[in-house]
Amino acid sequence: MTSEYRHIPVLLDECMDGLALKAGDVFVDATLGLAGHSAAAAERIGRDGLLIGIDQDDMALHRAEERLRQIPAHNRPEICLLKGNFGQLDELLVQTALPGVNAVLFDLGVSSPQIDNPSRGFSFKEDAPLDMRMDPGQQTITAEEIINTTNEADLARIIRSNSDERWASRIAAFIVKARKAAPITTSAQLVDIIKAAIPAAARRAGGHPAKRTFQALRMEVNQEQQVLRSGLDAAVRWLLPQGRICVISYHSIEDRIVKETFASYADRCTCPPDLPVCACGRCPMLEVKTRKPLLPTAEEVTRNPRARSAKLRIACRLEEPEMNEAWSR
Ligand SMILES: C[S@@+](CC[C@H](N)C(=O)[O-])C[C@H]1O[C@@H](n2cnc3c(N)ncnc32)[C@H](O)[C@@H]1O
Ligand SMILES: [Zn+2]
Repeated sequence: MTSEYRHIPVLLDECMDGLALKAGDVFVDATLGLAGHSAAAAERIGRDGLLIGIDQDDMALHRAEERLRQIPAHNRPEICLLKGNFGQLDELLVQTALPGVNAVLFDLGVSSPQIDNPSRGFSFKEDAPLDMRMDPGQQTITAEEIINTTNEADLARIIRSNSDERWASRIAAFIVKARKAAPITTSAQLVDIIKAAIPAAARRAGGHPAKRTFQALRMEVNQEQQVLRSGLDAAVRWLLPQGRICVISYHSIEDRIVKETFASYADRCTCPPDLPVCACGRCPMLEVKTRKPLLPTAEEVTRNPRARSAKLRIACRLEEPEMNEAWSR
């Protein structure tokens, strides 16, 4: 088995519980990857169900299709695979002409084949050109361009806001100094610059010193914060009453966006009880099922170290009557 087939679905049982799929449901996997979660979801929705799998990566779609084709025909749902970015979830789902969907899953981040493929430049452990585009066919700006053309203040902001890296300003200053001598074109060059920028004492704690800067660059190249916000907004709108949304995130910036987005849709009417009609306009669309995110067990982390930082948040779309109640009181 090659590394390309090694992606183990994270928090699988917890996701399946959270999605609460029934036979015949329409399930959207917004981050299909190698269809680890989708294969399990397919069993639950069965041959009367519809599985819509979305990924922006051609290789992931191709592998997922091969995997889903192996589900025995008598239990295989209708399968609709769509290439695209979940930041454009509305445009993608409109193509299906469905009135709504029963459940949506986001399992964020890059899949193992992408991380393991040195040519994509995602990894600080491999020497490769600094690319990091999730969809090289559609995107033009690479990590190399950002590193070599962004001014120092913006570079520091990009690193800090996408990773909470406390040495962001020093790293930006070291990058700007290094690129004056020669353009920075490879991940190994960048790792050396980051190591030099972070004081030795700090370098010994908190994992690989380049991890956070690489994450920040990947997020900037792929505009991940904006994309996640618009993907979540669209998913909530597409959910049918009682529909479920599950989101697995792998770092604090993403988890914060998921938590805040869920909370904003769960906001209830704050008008005084004696007001006959709601004036604040707050109409809860979601019930948050996880006050605190669900985490993998120690056993799962041992089996699959990539689950280590995973956090799962689950929410349920409210029934129309409850929404109307908030509006008409
Ligand atoms: C962690 S993997 C999903 C793994 C999958 N749940 C499984 O068990 O096999 C994330 C996938 O989402 C895709 N992806 C990440 N961001 C995306 C986006 N904005 N739009 C569409 N796909 C995205 C990546 O290409 C990758 O294949
Ligand atoms: Zn109100």
